[in-house]
Amino acid sequence: MKPNHIAIIMDGNGRWAKNHNESRKFGHKRGAITARDIVRFTGSLGIEFLTLYAFSTENWGRPLKEVNLLMALFIETLDAEIKDLNNNNVKIRFIGDRSNLKKSLINKIDKAELLTKNNQGLNLTVAMAYGGRWDIVNAAKLIQDKIESNELNQVDIDEEQFSSYMQLGLNPDPDLLIRTGGERRISNFLLWNIAYTELYFCDTLWPDFVSDDLELALDFYAQRKRRYGKNV
Ligand code: FPP
Repeated sequence: MKPNHIAIIMDGNGRWAKNHNESRKFGHKRGAITARDIVRFTGSLGIEFLTLYAFSTENWGRPLKEVNLLMALFIETLDAEIKDLNNNNVKIRFIGDRSNLKKSLINKIDKAELLTKNNQGLNLTVAMAYGGRWDIVNAAKLIQDKIESNELNQVDIDEEQFSSYMQLGLNPDPDLLIRTGGERRISNFLLWNIAYTELYFCDTLWPDFVSDDLELALDFYAQRKRRYGKNV
């Protein structure tokens, strides 16, 4: 079985750069190239949803110089890739807290979402300034607003309703979560949505992650027996 939704924590750009005696900037640039290649490969496999963790809420705490270069890299990558993504029928969406993002980046994000909104191919979601806990708190606030305006009754809130206020909305939950770079943790990614997701950790640093590495993750996934808490 192939996963319908893959989520990836792209970790290891900094260590890759260090190993190659290069700047962190260069490592992130190589990471962006890997992201582009993995998006293409995932699309070619006919996988429906791919969600990439590009920048976490906690990443705001990195030195300003690195934050700025990452933001510049997101704009640069989006400019360079949007035409190709659109030609390949990719529908791109960004999730996360936009309140601290630069206007110029928000404009690009809005334009990219608008341009690709009717595409029927790969659903690519980029998590930017995203945190799983922020996502849950944000959903709670949205629900509170709906209750206060009498558009929603508390008794009607169930897990599905709640999900519809989360950033991934009613997209299917990830079937497979991949984390590169050797750490075995979730780092505040998609906490609500990964309740039954299969977790795959590999030591490969993100800039070195190629289609063969993704195939290994897919082999791992194919061997899992998913029971969702049931004894079947
Ligand atoms: C983790 O490496 C990576 C990031 C914080 C940024 C992710 C960004 C990219 C892969 C490039 C652009 C992606 C898109 C979608 C345009 P790290 O710096 O934490 O590495 P380290 O743990 O080795 O220091």
